[in-house]
Amino acid sequence: MSAAVTVRVPAKVNVQLAVGAARPDGFHDLANVFLAVGLYDEVTATPADALRVTCSGPDAAQVPLDTTNLAARAALALAERYGVDPAVHLHIAKDIPVAGGMAGGSADGAAALVACDALWGTGASRDELLAICAELGSDVPFSLVGGAALGTGRGEKLTPIEVGGVFHWVFAVADGGLSTPAVYGEFDRLTAGTEVPEPAASPALLAALRSGDPDALAAALGNDLQPAALSLRPSLADTLAAGTAAGALAALVSGSGPTTAFLVPDEETARKTADALLASGTCRDARVAVSPAPGATVAGR
Ligand code: C5P
Repeated sequence: MSAAVTVRVPAKVNVQLAVGAARPDGFHDLANVFLAVGLYDEVTATPADALRVTCSGPDAAQVPLDTTNLAARAALALAERYGVDPAVHLHIAKDIPVAGGMAGGSADGAAALVACDALWGTGASRDELLAICAELGSDVPFSLVGGAALGTGRGEKLTPIEVGGVFHWVFAVADGGLSTPAVYGEFDRLTAGTEVPEPAASPALLAALRSGDPDALAAALGNDLQPAALSLRPSLADTLAAGTAAGALAALVSGSGPTTAFLVPDEETARKTADALLASGTCRDARVAVSPAPGATVAGR
């Protein structure tokens, strides 16, 4: 058995988030087109006397270190399933924006699962790991697989999607987070009394991903949670406008927000857009990244 396993895991952006009406269980059926982007957390699992989570990085203070952390819950779920003592130290080197709609917490859950599986030699199959991911949260299975995928159900049932090129992005990080349940609650409030259509993946969007054409992708991006995120955080409209004015092909809220995503044609425009967003004073940070990116991968042991 090795002394430490490090797993690298990407952030995601939802290039389409079609949201249906609330289900009896409170969740919403989705057509959720995930795209993994090259901003990464790393989770290192080391044998310890008891389960412990630590975190480093500029936003580490905002990360819970108790069993509400999906990394801890992933270790506990795997240990229980395989009858292993969950005595492990999980260290999260955090680079993905926290509570930002980029699945940072889900990423850490998927990474911890892969790390503990390798550390403990449990040898869980891919399907078993995906089933545990789905129990941990709707976005966790996608963090495991990466690339691009359509998530249906509450987002956990994945179908891989072909991506024919590299897409360049800028992400504007807002001050403070937004609660995902609160954003879905606001979606319910805003759509109350209206007929919410069945969510379906956009053929134009899937074709744009397949072709690798950023202009086609820009025209097809969509996020049904965006009005709800803007309703709870009206200042995000200023961030979206600043990125569009700077030359982005398209701007949208990432998932439930408050991170905003800007699709740009190339690396140079990405840098210029990031500089303009920072100068606009409408965000706390601006990060440049490319997609697609690989899923949770053992980076060292
Ligand atoms: O699955 P996860 O724990 O990430 O979901 C967080 C919250 O987001 C849920 O408690 C629910 O309020 C909301 N949600 C939803 N429909 C989905 C996914 C999440 O309403 N498909």
